[in-house]
Amino acid sequence: MSDLPRRLLVTGGAGFIGSTFVRRVLASHADVSVTVLDKLTYAGNLANLAEVTDHPRYRFVRGDICDPAVVEPLAANTDAIVNFAAETHVDRSITDPSAFIDTDVHGTYVLLEAARRHAHARYLQISTDEVYGHVAEGSSGEDDPLRPRSPYAATKAAADLLVQAYHVTHGLPAITTRSSNNFGPHQYPEKIIPLFVTNAIDGEPLPLYGDGLQIRDWLYVEDHCDALEIVLAQGTPGEVYNIGGGTSLTNLELTQRILDLMGAPTSLVRHVPDRPGHDRRYAVDCAKLSALGWEPRHGFDEALAATVAWYQAREDWWRPLKSGEYLAYYRHQYGDRLAAGIAAE
Ligand code: NAD
Ligand code: TYD
Repeated sequence: MSDLPRRLLVTGGAGFIGSTFVRRVLASHADVSVTVLDKLTYAGNLANLAEVTDHPRYRFVRGDICDPAVVEPLAANTDAIVNFAAETHVDRSITDPSAFIDTDVHGTYVLLEAARRHAHARYLQISTDEVYGHVAEGSSGEDDPLRPRSPYAATKAAADLLVQAYHVTHGLPAITTRSSNNFGPHQYPEKIIPLFVTNAIDGEPLPLYGDGLQIRDWLYVEDHCDALEIVLAQGTPGEVYNIGGGTSLTNLELTQRILDLMGAPTSLVRHVPDRPGHDRRYAVDCAKLSALGWEPRHGFDEALAATVAWYQAREDWWRPLKSGEYLAYYRHQYGDRLAAGIAAE
């Protein structure tokens, strides 16, 4: 018997982390069924769910979490919602935050209303350490103030506050997790690791923002999903849980490790003008989650090597993504920056 709610509605399940969660839950919980609700934006990809397409306990619905007419009937036949659906890329939120406000804020509200009306056993909100903003030293605890500094982080923080309010006001058994930067197979090649790996495969420059000394904590997606299962089964309603991988690196160090793994030259690195409002450092204190028995099971170096090897082997997955809309995005995002370049510190 599984300790998870039996019927899960997983929103954003065709994305990077959501699809990993779905594949794992179906494989390891024989009595849990999963309905994925996903709009299939540029980041959603049914290829991520190919191995479960015909699974008897899986169903896919294409739709928008902002649309109550879609959400309501699905919520009526569900014990818990796990909300991965979001616009997720900071750079895109700087260019145009409107979809972030729609999906990350309004969409969360629509899901919370549905969860409340149908008396769900759990509502799990997948959030991010970026809501804490830049952390000069030490690490963010769950009770620290939210100081988001990018439009993306601001919309995720707004959603976190809504979730908390629904717990307090309506008694919704809602839990929020805030994880650090994820990496692994199936990550859309706009985020730094898959972008740099796929660019390096093609001998293209790796656009490193500013001095490259910004610090991120890296979490392997499988370890993140381990934590989500534990929190869904054992977490306390109303609580927030940080999830971090424990490997803190500057972007420059991360880039060098990628180049070393690929045997690619350092000359590919191109320092380009920085992201506006770029947070210098994130770090999370995960003691609360550790008390539930979680710790990352994958070493960073092995997980990064496995990720690089996956992208090297799966050009069939990422090459089609780096076309069409992506090329327009890439030109807009990087064209002028790469032309300008900046001197390395
Ligand atoms: P992703 O960009 O890979 O996938 C997002 C998914 O949401 C896509 O399948 C997309 O089609 C779907 N979606 C977007 N708008 C939707 C809408 N209106 N209705 C239904 N579906 C919609 O994202 P990811 O990296 O897998 O992140 C998943 C969640 O985890 C997000 O909430 C994100 O904020 C959070 N998170 C991500 C990271 C990270 O490093 N990637 C870190 C911390 C938290
Ligand atoms: P990203 O993968 O966009 O995740 P987030 O902004 O959510 O942390 O970026 C990770 C770090 O890498 C961040 O400090 C910005 C930096 N970065 C670059 O230097 N160059 C790039 O082309 C990208 C996409 C990110």
